[in-house]
Amino acid sequence: MPAAASPQSAVPVIGPADHARVLSRVLLGPVIKGPIVRRPKAVGLAERFDADSWGVAEMQRVRARYGAGPVQLRVAGRRVALLLDPEDVHRVLNETPGTFSPASLEKRGALNHFEPKSSLVSSSERRASRRPFNEQILETARPIHSHAQAMTAAVTEEVSALLGHADFAGVLDWDAFAVMWGRMVRRIVLGTSARDDEQVTDDLRRLRERANLSYFMPQNRGLRERFLGRLQDYIELAEPGSLAAMVAQAETADDIAPHQQIPQWLFAFDAEAWATFRALSLLTAHPEAAEMARTEMAQAPDLPFLRATVLESLRLWPTTPLILRDSTVETRWRNGVLPAGTSLVIYAPFFHRDDETLPEAHRFSPELWLRDRDDTDWPLVPFSGGPGMCPGRNVVLLTSSMVLGELLRRREFTAQKPLNTDPLPGTLSPFSSRFSVRPV
Ligand code: HEM
Repeated sequence: MPAAASPQSAVPVIGPADHARVLSRVLLGPVIKGPIVRRPKAVGLAERFDADSWGVAEMQRVRARYGAGPVQLRVAGRRVALLLDPEDVHRVLNETPGTFSPASLEKRGALNHFEPKSSLVSSSERRASRRPFNEQILETARPIHSHAQAMTAAVTEEVSALLGHADFAGVLDWDAFAVMWGRMVRRIVLGTSARDDEQVTDDLRRLRERANLSYFMPQNRGLRERFLGRLQDYIELAEPGSLAAMVAQAETADDIAPHQQIPQWLFAFDAEAWATFRALSLLTAHPEAAEMARTEMAQAPDLPFLRATVLESLRLWPTTPLILRDSTVETRWRNGVLPAGTSLVIYAPFFHRDDETLPEAHRFSPELWLRDRDDTDWPLVPFSGGPGMCPGRNVVLLTSSMVLGELLRRREFTAQKPLNTDPLPGTLSPFSSRFSVRPV
């Protein structure tokens, strides 16, 4: 049993053996897979060892040993606290950005490589104008973005081109899907003339590769300026239907740096690609769900079932496994205090896959997302939560559900390596998924 702590004592520090296990089983995986741009080989290796299941089991063990309060450890000289209880997760997310800043040291080290003025890594003063700017362009509160028509055109045309290729090749694989995705994203964000501008994506990729090593890697300012300059060109072009056009038309204060908000959008669309491809795996493994999705395509314009399928893909395999916050003041917890400057870690797979709490943990359960959920529910946080929640989530759900729906409406897909559905694996690499394609 954990010892009851006096209110003044420090949050318990885990012992050396537990420390080594948490490092290797929980925290190392996301770093090796690539926090900012994924390394497909490392993700493949993690899939082979089902690395995320080990991470979840380790967190359950820590909770059984130390109780539900947070626990502390040291990582590379930093004081880190792992959250183990839903109530603490809600607290940290809801008290963002005041008590818990999203602009954590590691995130700043990483994102400064390509977007030093992004809302996500801004001081709370700057964030106060940059975050609303993101919400305004991404229309965070609206399930259907006002550019939905242009987005639909980008999706249907690019999916058509993809299917042409897949019919010829007889297979849909990640490489072809990623090419389609890049074109679609550049059209939606920058405009139709950016469709084939692979340079802009390549520049961002090179900057993100440096960002994987956070502040341990020197910045390439020349490349960053070229990349950001190109984004500025697209804003000036302001092609109708693009997010860049909305940026051009928005009234902005000087300190917003509108073009520096765009890299986060381009970069984050990658996570959506992984989630969508994994959702396709889920649907091929659950034919009755694929049938429901097809029916929905003919009937419901807002595609609730397909959206829930994407959310399930994100619950089962969260694309932001570590949600990080730095505390700005001393904080009190049920088992002690943590000083200001502590890095708080929410390991999403633990909350999404805790089979000691969630009966659906390892099964495809879209109904989890179709019933009303409120802030006090068990935390399912693929998009984070509270005031720092992803402002792009509705754009994500709109576009990913359309891509999936378009694929299913037009073809039948069979996974070449069937997915084990009960239990679903803890780690699933989208990069090695391949589907045979047949007419419907
Ligand atoms: C599957 C796809 C996506 C997932 C799972 C996702 C998830 C998240 C999460 C967890 C955060 C919070 C990160 C943190 O606290 O450190 C975040 C922030 C953010 N996301 Fe997304 N995101 C996705 C796609 C997108 C897209 C496509 C856009 C834009 C078009 C977008 C725009 C943003 C922005 C601007 C922020 C920073 C918000 C802030 O400064 O508070 N995201 N996202």
